[in-house]
Amino acid sequence: MTKVAIVGGGILGSSVESALGHRGHEVVVLSRRTGFDVTKPETMTPRPDIDAVVEATDVFTQKFDVARKFFQASTRNINHWAQESGISKHVLISIVNCEVDAMSSNGYYAGNAAQEKVALEENHGTVLVRSTLWYEFARKNLNRMKVGPFAIVPQMKVKPVALDAVAEVVAECIDGERQGKAYDVCGPEVMSLWSMTRVLRNKGALPLSVPAPGPAGKAMRQGALVPGPSAETVGPRFDEWFAEGDR
Ligand SMILES: NC(=O)c1ccc[n+]([C@@H]2O[C@H](COP(=O)([O-])OP(=O)(O)OC[C@H]3O[C@@H](n4cnc5c(N)ncnc54)[C@H](OP(=O)(O)O)[C@@H]3O)[C@@H](O)[C@H]2O)c1
Repeated sequence: MTKVAIVGGGILGSSVESALGHRGHEVVVLSRRTGFDVTKPETMTPRPDIDAVVEATDVFTQKFDVARKFFQASTRNINHWAQESGISKHVLISIVNCEVDAMSSNGYYAGNAAQEKVALEENHGTVLVRSTLWYEFARKNLNRMKVGPFAIVPQMKVKPVALDAVAEVVAECIDGERQGKAYDVCGPEVMSLWSMTRVLRNKGALPLSVPAPGPAGKAMRQGALVPGPSAETVGPRFDEWFAEGDR
């Protein structure tokens, strides 16, 4: 059994927690809620009892400076904390194609790309699991993009994936079933965020399909976030995933 810290207890953190739990690992979730703030190193008390760390923090912004500052601090401070704690395995989850030129005018994606650079250059023990958009993101987007009775759904062509399948890849990295340094994973089909959204029940708002602005918005519509053929396909099709639960 391995004792794993998941930093960030959002939807990714919860899914990884359950994948690791099923494999018999002990999991500790650390975030501001538990007094552990990755932007304040003084709150990050070393934990020599932990064997591995999964980084699953996030910030909701489109501003490059905010995203870069947060994601770089998260990775740098977790690296430092892991070193002080004697933790050698660090798995970071990022986004497929966040680093492509076409997406560089989107502050959030560019912030993720800056984070990846820090992860790869400053800690050679990092395992990078890059995933495409999760099926679960359609609901999350509806919840956080409300404007009055509407919810904005940015137009994008993606090759989305079930979050639990990504969490399983992370668990395989922790368990040493995967020994590589980086994985790009996606689901089986190219589709739009709109088609993932419109079938959801109890939407709580009227979804509006809106083109995201700027060159990155255009690039997203044209498929800049769709991975190349080397990405590994994991998990069920969207319709199979949808039929599995109360969506
Ligand atoms: N959405 C997708 O489809 C997708 C696809 C590929 C990769 N990703 C990546 O997956 C990561 C996690 O996304 P998510 O959807 O799980 O995010 P989320 O649900 O918003 O959760 C983020 C977590 O980060 C924690 N956090 C925020 N600020 C923190 C801080 N200063 N110190 C410590 N913890 C902090 C929050 O907990 P507290 O509030 O308690 O601090 C929260 O639990 C992101 O980096 C994202 O880029 C997302």
